[in-house]
Order: sequence, then structure tokens, then C-alpha cells
Amino acid sequence: MNALAATNRNFRHAARILGLDSKIEKSLLIPFREIKVECTIPKDDGTLVSYIGFRVQHDNSRGPMKGGIRYHPEVDPDEVNALAQLMTWKSAVVDIPYGGAKGGIGCSPGDLSKSELERLTRVFTQKIHDLIGTHTDVPAPDMGTNAQTMAWILDEYSKFHGHSPAVVTGKPLDLGGSLGRDAATGRGVVFATEALLKEHGKSIPEMRFVIQGFGNVGSWAATLIHERGGKVTAVSDITGAVKNPNGLDIPALIKHKENNGTLKDFEGGDAMDPAELLVHDCDVLIPCALGGVLNKDNAADVKAKYIIEAANHPTDPEADEILSKKGVTILPDIYANAGGVTVSYFEWVQNIQGFMWDEEKVNNELQKYMTHAFGRIKGMCQSHDCSLRMGAFTLGVSRVARATTLRGWEA
Ligand SMILES: NC(=O)c1ccc[n+]([C@@H]2O[C@H](COP(=O)([O-])OP(=O)(O)OC[C@H]3O[C@@H](n4cnc5c(N)ncnc54)[C@H](O)[C@@H]3O)[C@@H](O)[C@H]2O)c1
Repeated sequence: MNALAATNRNFRHAARILGLDSKIEKSLLIPFREIKVECTIPKDDGTLVSYIGFRVQHDNSRGPMKGGIRYHPEVDPDEVNALAQLMTWKSAVVDIPYGGAKGGIGCSPGDLSKSELERLTRVFTQKIHDLIGTHTDVPAPDMGTNAQTMAWILDEYSKFHGHSPAVVTGKPLDLGGSLGRDAATGRGVVFATEALLKEHGKSIPEMRFVIQGFGNVGSWAATLIHERGGKVTAVSDITGAVKNPNGLDIPALIKHKENNGTLKDFEGGDAMDPAELLVHDCDVLIPCALGGVLNKDNAADVKAKYIIEAANHPTDPEADEILSKKGVTILPDIYANAGGVTVSYFEWVQNIQGFMWDEEKVNNELQKYMTHAFGRIKGMCQSHDCSLRMGAFTLGVSRVARATTLRGWEA
């Protein structure tokens, strides 16, 4: 099942649980606006080349729309649509005043020079500058884009609208980025895990963790778990997988990866088959890489008792059913990885205030938002007798539906 079909299915299930009016249900599924632009730039060799840029703005009933911009050869409009919708529910779950959006350009960023990427980003911004803005739609980095991309968008946008640091988040610190943003998603994953384990009378130091993906989210989650005394017994990335039943030395593994560009040949552990990682014996499994990695082929063999969805849609609906029947507790993506958008919100607030928070304040506020949201999700699970996934969906969807109704939505 593709991302859009799975997202729509979860939304419809939540709408049924909530007894949502069918007209509201229909209107919440339809995106507010879908933008498609042709971005033509001269390459470094003087030839012209054209790329298609998208932005799907899903919903703005609770505030400006918010979501990443990805540069990837297979930017698929359906997937962008699903991710825009997920951003709406995610922002509502953690109760930040945003709606959802997502966008991208169909290009291979690795094949473009830095100046070609800059020209492409500036042309894309010229084409959409009237449709984004501090109080309209606030982009952020995603696959294939980074803080530099956001700096170019900020600069190009500001030529039309005056200095506007809050038009993007995930900026470099020198241009108004927030302290703590880099670690925010991984830190949010750890706060979410602590809240879940506490609910079950457990804590991180008693648990064995397996982590798929050792990029931004996976390496921060591993570092913070290790700092709290948890044992990370296996880790994988695109280059391979490594295990140590006594717990990997995560700072040493990060150093090894920095020095060698790979997890291979790490002396503090044994190489393992990456395909085995998801079904490796552990207490908590944290997928931090790709979507759809847990599916009907491997779900029955998963040994973990808890799955924390740090990646977006890592569990497909068939696997979800199999795992639930096995009694595995799944903390869903629209809550578990919401730390990134939450600190993006703090960045936007700081830009609007013209005031910079210290890192301790950012981290403390993040913990408050993640812990509070967990309590509200549990509340929905209890009142509707449903899973954590449906608890999160019903929480997000009900908040957006209430805002939509209060504003009056029939034209
Ligand atoms: N970065 C954020 O703020 C953020 C926020 C919300 C959700 N997410 C989601 O979290 C996930 C990871 O994001 P990230 O920012 O850490 O990306 P990243 O590019 O920094 O890291 C991705 C990691 O996954 C690994 N990987 C790729 N293919 C793999 C495979 N087949 N097997 C094992 N590992 C593989 C890569 O080697 C890399 O270590 C994505 O699903 C993303 O959508 C990220």
C-alpha cells in the first residue's frame, strides 16, 4: 500500500472513531492547494535544463502550513500529498499552531553543482514566493536539502518581501536558526520513548535497543539513549550493520563513521546481516531510515516489544495488524518524530520575537510538548478504546476538525 493510501486509510479510520460529519471528513482530505511549477535554469556549461517543482499545501485551519522541501529524482505527487496531510495531523498532535504542507523538486541533487543548486532553489522560490510566507506556509529541509537550501530561499524570498527569517526553518544559526534543531527529532524520539516506557513501568536503562538508520535522527536517538544508560545492541545504515549484545559504544561508533564513512569494520562490535536487524532480539526497535520497512514479510518475526516509529510510515498497514496481534506496542510516526517540527516551531517563534533562546530552554520546552502530547494521546486511547496510532490520529484529526468547524468552512 502506498503512503497516500495508508495515510487516507488511517484518517478514515480516525474519522469513523470520532463520528466525524461526512462533509467535514471529505473536506479534510482535500488539499487546500497543489502547486506545480517549471524551474528552468542554465547549467554551468551554459545549456538550459528544466525541473518540475511541487508544493502541496494541505490545511491551514490551525495556522500557517508547515513542511519540508525535498530534492529527489522520484518526487512523487501522491507521496508529497500524503506527507503534507501527515504534517497537518502531526502539528495538531503536538498542539503547535500549524497546518501541513510538503514540497519538492524532481532532481538528483548529487548531480548538480553547488551553483546549479543555488540557481534552482532561487528560481523555485521566485515561482512560489507569493504562495509561501511567515504566516502562510513555512518550508523546512527534507531529503536532499539542508540549512544552505533554506538560506537561499530566505534570501530570495526577502528580495520580494523584505527581511523575513521566519519564512523558513532549519536555517543556519547565523541566519536565525535555533539551537537544538539538529538534535530535535532524535531528542523528541527519546522523550517519546521515555513517556511510553514510564507508562509501562519501565525505563531506558533496563532496555535493549536496535536502531535502523544512523543519519541525523538515528545517530541522535542512539547518542541520547546511550547517555541515559540504555544498551543499543545493533545499528544499521546503508553501508551495513553492526551488533554487540553488551551494548555498542555509540560515541566511538559515530567517530568511526565520521572517519571511515561506513559502519563496516567497527572494532567494538560484530558485523551482521542488515536484513536481520529488524527481527534481531531486543526490547525496543527504532526504525530511523525508510518507509515501509516493516511489512507482511517480516512483521511476524519481529522480537521487539516496542516499536518507536522515528521514520515516516515505516510500518505498512498489514504489518501493523500482525504486530498488534502479537502484542507489540507501536508508537506512531505522527507523534514519535514530531520533535523536529516542534523545534522548527520554536525557531519560527524566536524569529518573530527577534530573540534567541538558549539550548536548555529549547530542550526543556521540547520535553514539555512531547510529554504533554503523550498524555493526550493516551487519553484518546482510553476514551475510544483504540491503539496508540488511532489515539494520535483521533487527537490530531479532532483538533483540526474543531478548528475548521469554528472558523466556518462552508463557503
Ligand atoms: N530529520 C528530521 O528532522 C526528520 C523529522 C521527521 C521525520 N524524519 C524521518 O526520519 C527518517 C530519517 O531521517 P534523517 O533526517 O535521519 O535522514 P538521514 O538521511 O540523515 O539518514 C538516513 C539514514 O538511513 C540510512 N539508510 C538508508 N537506506 C537504508 C537501508 N536500506 N537500511 C538501513 N539504513 C538505511 C542511511 O544510511 C542514513 O544513515 C526519514 O524517514 C525521515 O523522513 C526526519
